[in-house]
Amino acid sequence: MDKNGVLLPEHIAIIMDGNGRWAKKRGLDRTEGHKVGAEVFRKICQYGSDIGIKYMTFYAFSTENWKRSAFEVGKIMDLFRKYLEEMEEREQENEEAGYNIHFIGSREGMPPDIAELMDVVEARSGEKNKVHINIAVNYGGRDEIIHAARQLAEKVRTGELSAEDITEDVFSGNLYTAGQPDPDLIIRPSGEERLSNFLIWQSAYAEFYFSDVLWPDFTKEDLDKAIEEYSRRNRRFGGV
Ligand code: FPP
Repeated sequence: MDKNGVLLPEHIAIIMDGNGRWAKKRGLDRTEGHKVGAEVFRKICQYGSDIGIKYMTFYAFSTENWKRSAFEVGKIMDLFRKYLEEMEEREQENEEAGYNIHFIGSREGMPPDIAELMDVVEARSGEKNKVHINIAVNYGGRDEIIHAARQLAEKVRTGELSAEDITEDVFSGNLYTAGQPDPDLIIRPSGEERLSNFLIWQSAYAEFYFSDVLWPDFTKEDLDKAIEEYSRRNRRFGGV
């Protein structure tokens, strides 16, 4: 609960959608939309952290996004590289801001220098930090479930686990989000109303909030609106 009596979600997940359309509307190249989208990502991280959101997950690049032109993929990778370099340089500031950065998704197929920077930034984000930022890169929900199933199968093969030991909690503990609470609120701007393979296991009881705003236009006020709407809903988790 915040000071105005609004029920704050512990974990908010956001699908950053609409960058291409935003740019097209302005006669710009799609990649200009991603550039502004990356700035909005930074602002929303900061604002979410200021108002007391403990976990935020951002969908930045899906396993399907490799199908885009090499030019567009390259520009998105450049934005990740720039962000990671900044994070590395501003280690002290991040520590003060209390960010614990974690990447969810597969490192396989990522440009090696970016994968290495991801490891460095992640390793430096201590558990002591209070705001957990997950960035989904080369992420797919089905891919994540397969990855967890393979890990569990291997544990059964080596005798570390028996098949009966595999409960929902054990399964969750083998996902990229192991140890984190499931998202309470999933936000998708840009007018699309689907999950697109995002957190498909973790979203079982999430509230969904859709808006027509394109991600580069998304503001603090839009986040406030989503949280207010969430706060008004009565969550019953299947009970009465
Ligand atoms: C979806 O919009 C957006 C993406 C696939 C890329 C998102 C990437 C960023 C916002 C940059 C992230 C940077 C950091 C540092 C995390 P779209 O291109 O599908 O838009 P459209 O539906 O209008 O075409």
